[in-house]
Amino acid sequence: MSIPRRSFFLVAAGALLRASDRPKQDMLVRSARPEDLEMALSGFSDYITPLEHFFVRTHVYVPTVNVSEWRLTVEGEVATPFTLTMDDVKKLPAVELVSVVECAGNGRGFYEPAVPGIQWGNGSVGNARWRGVRLADVLKRAGVKDSAKEILFDGADIPLGTMPDFQRSIPVKKALDGHTLLAYEMNGETLPVKHGFPLRVVAPGWASDSWAKWLTSIRVLDKEHDGFWMKSAYRHPGKPVAPRTAVPPDQMQPVTSLRVKSVIAAPLDGSQALSGKPLAIRGVAWSGDAGPVTAVDVSIDGGRSWKPAALQEDQRTQFGWRQWEFNWTPSQEAYYTILARARDAAGNTQPFDQEWNPSGYGWNVVPRVRVDVVQELSSALQPPQPSSTFSSPPAGFKNTCLSCHDEDVIRQQRLTRAQWDRELKKMTGWGAPVKDEEREGFLDYLLSNYGPRPRGR
Ligand code: HEC
Repeated sequence: MSIPRRSFFLVAAGALLRASDRPKQDMLVRSARPEDLEMALSGFSDYITPLEHFFVRTHVYVPTVNVSEWRLTVEGEVATPFTLTMDDVKKLPAVELVSVVECAGNGRGFYEPAVPGIQWGNGSVGNARWRGVRLADVLKRAGVKDSAKEILFDGADIPLGTMPDFQRSIPVKKALDGHTLLAYEMNGETLPVKHGFPLRVVAPGWASDSWAKWLTSIRVLDKEHDGFWMKSAYRHPGKPVAPRTAVPPDQMQPVTSLRVKSVIAAPLDGSQALSGKPLAIRGVAWSGDAGPVTAVDVSIDGGRSWKPAALQEDQRTQFGWRQWEFNWTPSQEAYYTILARARDAAGNTQPFDQEWNPSGYGWNVVPRVRVDVVQELSSALQPPQPSSTFSSPPAGFKNTCLSCHDEDVIRQQRLTRAQWDRELKKMTGWGAPVKDEEREGFLDYLLSNYGPRPRGR
């Protein structure tokens, strides 16, 4: 939402966590403020992901919307601009569908060399039952003109500092395809505030950057939208590029459809299993526009041979995920490498190696877990904990860098000096008041504490 700028420090103070807002214990907190929460691997055991386990991705603090005052405006390249209340929205025909919603950066933490951003593992994804109205019905009522190219969404969220307002657009074709919804319910409940109350875009098959939350405005454009979140962020080179380079945004494409992907939920990587005892290998698989998933093959010998896993028959929907299971009784003690590879209706399969890209989008490499098959389970050996020898930040760092977010966002990065330099420029551009004389000291501190290092340290 575009509002006159006000001090973001005031917004920051207002956004401190109340005890009741604290995330569930079993969620991985990637950032406490703004809130970025990842679902644990155990979450893949559910077909419909319960709300309390659903990943949360927010760029800014969650806005509070008073639904009696809330309005949705529809304007731009339309015959009849209009405004809807929530009662008006609910008078339109209701539609329900099951769809995966996945962050474009899900799996970013697996990229080597590391890239900046929230270091998600597998769990910035969930499968929900969405209820709402067709975007096509709303647009038809407005009468979209032939000149229309893209539909731009804006929400009630307020940017921090001078960061650009989060506005995203989708092509008219996607908007009108009948699957794209404006949802007010998730899993049979009123859409939770973290997930976009009172209304959000549901763009099935597409990464969640297109699923605008806290929706207040729909604008039909006659050209491509040129805002930061379309023209600079959420872009992918779509071809091999040299690792750690910054690819100019105009040489990249917007992130759109999800890619075919599977996750192994059990057994856990590095776990033990008993020889002669059945072991269920299970997980979920999904795809994007090319869904549904039609097959998942499993290998227990590092990819030398493959066998089909059993897919849940009643879960064959175009955009939801499908649970799969493969039963295996290891007969010999050995160290096994288990792989899973999904295929979708268009014949796409998962790659064995992932092409690097500057923002770490679209991770869908064949997952791999190693299992030690033994005669008798031994108590797990604790891996040695890396000693944390962080130096304390230079003067001014906390005031300059920790007003909008905490250090957790910074701590998870593993960046080179050039990458940190680019981060400092980005944050200065968004309003971090870095003084010239402080800059080198900040860079030294960031590089020595949060420089390139093995994952997980
Ligand atoms: C004006 C508010 C603001 C200030 C001040 C600020 N940041 Fe940020 N920063 C953000 C926001 C908002 C995000 C999250 C962006 C997102 O989720 O896409 C972010 C994200 C990050 C990230 C994650 C990578 C990325 O680019 O998303 C890093 C690293 C980071 N900030 C470092 C810093 C450092 C270092 C400073 C001090 C020089 C700083 N920030 C000061 C607003 C700020």
